Amino acid sequence: MIVIGGSSSRDLAKELAMILECKCILASSTRFPDGECYTRIEGETLNDDVVIVQNTYPDQNLIEMFLIQDAAKRMGAKSITLVIPYFGYARQDRIFKPGEPESAKVMAKHLSIACDRVITIDIHKETVLKNFKCPATDIKASGAIAEYFADKGIDIVLAPDEGAAERARDVGERMGVPHDHLEKVRLSGTEVRIAPAKMDCRGKNVLIVDDIIATGGTIMAATIQLKEAGAQSVSVACTHGVFTGDSIQRLTGGNIDALLCCNTLESKVSNISVASTVAEELRKGKKKRLLRKS
Ligand code: R5P
Repeated sequence: MIVIGGSSSRDLAKELAMILECKCILASSTRFPDGECYTRIEGETLNDDVVIVQNTYPDQNLIEMFLIQDAAKRMGAKSITLVIPYFGYARQDRIFKPGEPESAKVMAKHLSIACDRVITIDIHKETVLKNFKCPATDIKASGAIAEYFADKGIDIVLAPDEGAAERARDVGERMGVPHDHLEKVRLSGTEVRIAPAKMDCRGKNVLIVDDIIATGGTIMAATIQLKEAGAQSVSVACTHGVFTGDSIQRLTGGNIDALLCCNTLESKVSNISVASTVAEELRKGKKKRLLRKS
């Protein structure tokens, strides 16, 4: 197996290859003067199963992913698995208003043109997976998050809305602490209203878990609500720290006691690694292939 790291995910690719004890090639990527992407996998031939690690967000990374796939195929990759740490466009997974595209479906369809398998991590909606033209699996970051917070004295795990309730259950159960979800109403792209928690949070160390932090509006509102309810501390963990605008500064300079994300998107707070979880999934896939051959 050979791991190829695209420009969005070089550190994750290196860590993954280290765990899998296989070769890692970092695709070199630059931009032409007009902004178009130039990418190259250096070496003679691949002649092995290839794993490409690259985000499909922002748009430049999506183009790079298409080009790396083509280069890998031409260099003799026996099979291509795409590991997409953060799958962009997953939130437009259906038509909300007439005239809109089904963006997630379009991305999945086109990404699967040259690959044999896809692995995503905490994709916003798992229903998107059925649009890939090859087997696609979503793996969860809950184990890595629970492990990170295991010795941090957390009393309660909360999801900021019902959509993330399953994640809070998974993390809470792994940590052996109670879990619940808050009720959220979205008022605009940047503003949300969160109802008071049903659980008594007075004097408790609360961990909020979510899949994405974008503007930070959700996490900010949930934290304010929990601090008003008397929580002793509020820690926040999300899988994908998108952090639009100056949200990372606003979130780290306020009421939040600890802010952590996974390394699906690299930032100054992406200290939770999903590399072992991805490696485990790749090992399972390899084992299945070997069993089929024998
Ligand atoms: C919503 O369904 C997601 O799970 C996140 O809660 C949301 O994307 C967070 O966005 P923001 O940080 O802009 O509130």
